Amino acid sequence: KTLSSRSLASVAEYILSGRAKRIVVMTGAGISTAAGIPDFRSPDTGLYANLASLDLPEPEAVFDLGFFKVNPRPFYVLAKELYPGNYHPTVSHVFVRLLAEKGLLHQLFTQNIDCLEREAGIPAEKIIEAHGSFASQRCIECKTEFDAGKMREFVSQGEVPRCEDGGCKGLVKPDIVFFGEQLPKAFFDRRDMAEEADLVLVMGTSLQVHPFAGLVDLAAERVPRVLFNLERVGSMGCQADDVLALGDCDEGVRRLADELGWREELEEKWRG
Ligand code: OAD
Repeated sequence: KTLSSRSLASVAEYILSGRAKRIVVMTGAGISTAAGIPDFRSPDTGLYANLASLDLPEPEAVFDLGFFKVNPRPFYVLAKELYPGNYHPTVSHVFVRLLAEKGLLHQLFTQNIDCLEREAGIPAEKIIEAHGSFASQRCIECKTEFDAGKMREFVSQGEVPRCEDGGCKGLVKPDIVFFGEQLPKAFFDRRDMAEEADLVLVMGTSLQVHPFAGLVDLAAERVPRVLFNLERVGSMGCQADDVLALGDCDEGVRRLADELGWREELEEKWRG
C-alpha cells in the first residue's frame, strides 16, 4: 500500500511529502455542471435524457457522424446550448490550474468540449482535449477550415453552416470527436503520460466511453487513484490505494484543498 489510509487526508499527505510529482487528471462533463452546462448521462438533468424533442433514433445519435450527414439539425440545436463563451470555470477546473502552477500536473486528459480548461488558465501544453472542442471547425468533406466568427453567428441563429470553399457545400462541423471518428493524434501520443503518473485524479466522468475510459487503468497498481464523482464508476475503488470522494466534485476538491492548506489560494483564484 502507498497511502496510509483511503482518505483525502492521506492523499494530501502523499502530495505534501513530495511523492506526487506527476499528477495525471482525467475529467468529464461532471466538472462543468456547476458552471451550468448539463452532463450527458445523469438520469434527469443529463442531455441524453432531454433530447426527446429532437426526434433522434437514440440520444447518442446527436454525436454520430453517420446521422449528422443525414440530419445535422439536432446537433446544431445542441451546439447552441453548449457553445463556449457563456460559462465560467468551476472550482474543479481551477484546482487543476493550481496543480499546474505548483509544477505537479503531468497531464490533464479531458473529454469536455466546453473549453473551460483553457479559460481556467491551465497551460495549453498540459491539456489533451480527447474529444476535441468547439475551438475550431471544418468541412466534413474537403476539410477546409471555416471562419470562427461566422461559425458563432450560424450557431447563435441555430443555422447549419456549409463549406464556402469553391462550391464544395459540404457540412461544417466543429472539431469535436463524434462516434465513428478517431480521437486526436495527441491523445495517442500522450497516452504514456498516464502510465507515468504517480497520482491519478478522476473527476466528473461516468467512464462509459472508450478509449478514454481505459486511461484510468494505465497507471501502475500501487499508484493512488482518487475519484471525485457523484457515483462510483469504472474500476475506481477496486485497487488498494483508490480513494472515493463520492459527492459533488467541487466539494470534494475543496476538502482536498483544505487538507493541503491550499483552500484560500484556490478560492482566490476561482473568484479571479
Ligand atoms: P457523463 O454524463 O457520461 O458522466 C458525467 C458523470 O459526472 C456522471 O457519473 C455524473 O454522476 C457525474 N456528475 C455530474 N455532476 C457532477 C458533480 N457536480 N460532481 C461530481 N460528479 C458529477 O459525461 P462524460 O463521462 O464526460 O462525447 O461523457 C463522456 C462522453 O460521452 C462525452 O465526452 C460525450 C458523450 O458522448 C462527446 O462529446 C463527443
